[in-house]
Amino acid sequence: MTDKITSTFKETFSKEPLVVYSPGRINLIGEHTDYNMGFVMPAAIDKKMIVAIAANQTRQGRIYSMDFEEEFVFDLDSFGPYKGHWATYIMGVTAQLQQAGYAVQGFDMVFGGDIPVGAGLSSSAALEAAVGFALSTLFGFHVPKRSLIHYAQKAEHIFAGVQCGIMDQFASVMGKKGHVIRLDCRSLDFQYFPLHLPNHSILLIDTGVKHSLADSAYNKRREECQTGVAAAQKLNPEIKSLRDMDMDLLEAIKSDISQTVLNRCKYIIEENNRVLDSSESLDKNDLVGFGEKMYQSHEGLSKLYEVSCPELDFLVDYTKDLEDVLGSRMMGGGFGGCTINIVEKSKVRTLQDNIKPAFESKYGVTPKVYEVSLEDGTGLM
Ligand code: GLA
Repeated sequence: MTDKITSTFKETFSKEPLVVYSPGRINLIGEHTDYNMGFVMPAAIDKKMIVAIAANQTRQGRIYSMDFEEEFVFDLDSFGPYKGHWATYIMGVTAQLQQAGYAVQGFDMVFGGDIPVGAGLSSSAALEAAVGFALSTLFGFHVPKRSLIHYAQKAEHIFAGVQCGIMDQFASVMGKKGHVIRLDCRSLDFQYFPLHLPNHSILLIDTGVKHSLADSAYNKRREECQTGVAAAQKLNPEIKSLRDMDMDLLEAIKSDISQTVLNRCKYIIEENNRVLDSSESLDKNDLVGFGEKMYQSHEGLSKLYEVSCPELDFLVDYTKDLEDVLGSRMMGGGFGGCTINIVEKSKVRTLQDNIKPAFESKYGVTPKVYEVSLEDGTGLM
């Protein structure tokens, strides 16, 4: 893949590129907790976005997407969001760097990767992080990693219109081989946990579903959480986010909020506690306990937070009685994409052989399955 991207670059632009990559991510547990200033447990994976880049001595960004087989050119002195188009992520990061005072010069770029788009593996965050790092390296900006993460997140907010949290960009930039990251999304303090899975695999099963309203539903969830926080602040002005709330406080504001907002808040408070409990399970190497929390997480995402879909529920339900699957849940923003499963290594084949036809006979498509490993974050190829 890297060779193909590099050779396409050379053929198109007749010069040597700088080549960088940034990975996609999984999240073991802690869904929708990032923008509530809580905890998450993501990891970077062996699927990545690769960017080949060189300066072009103009005031233009000239880009070729290998996957879309499409070219895009923009003027560095006059551009804006182009929602729904892949180029918006690249322009979004460029705009953030410019705003921060970095003098981005004209560049030629070819990019591509093997992170499936819309599968909940954060291909967009990986692209943003790769582009930020590529521009920083090419022009010698030495942008600190923390800033890179923030610029990538802001690009998503402003140029893609999704009010995402910090998890995806953080995981893509900070990932570490063989480790998951326990991240406090308020302080950005984090710890790497080695994930010892001698007998188990991390298996992603992709529903293939991409909900067209996922972005607006995502932003809506964020607003509902904010409504809960505003109600709590009337009782206790110290409350800044759902991270600060407990079930007693939620009970106390129950009559001031709708059932929907109550459910959203309940899920987030529970999920946050689950991340903390889960890291204890991991510490004790209690994978069974960890798996149970994954199922509980899915239940909350499906019933209280309402970001699942029938296809995701089907895949999770299918594994519930299988001894060889320790845990399963939907992953990422929801409304489609993948489930993440912890499966006994020797049973991976059997599970695939059974779950694929079962899903297909119900939904008419064969789900794709990816076995992933945990890898390093953004870097030079
Ligand atoms: C998307 C967002 C993340 C996070 C997850 C849900 O991936 O980009 O910030 O909120 O959904 O956990």
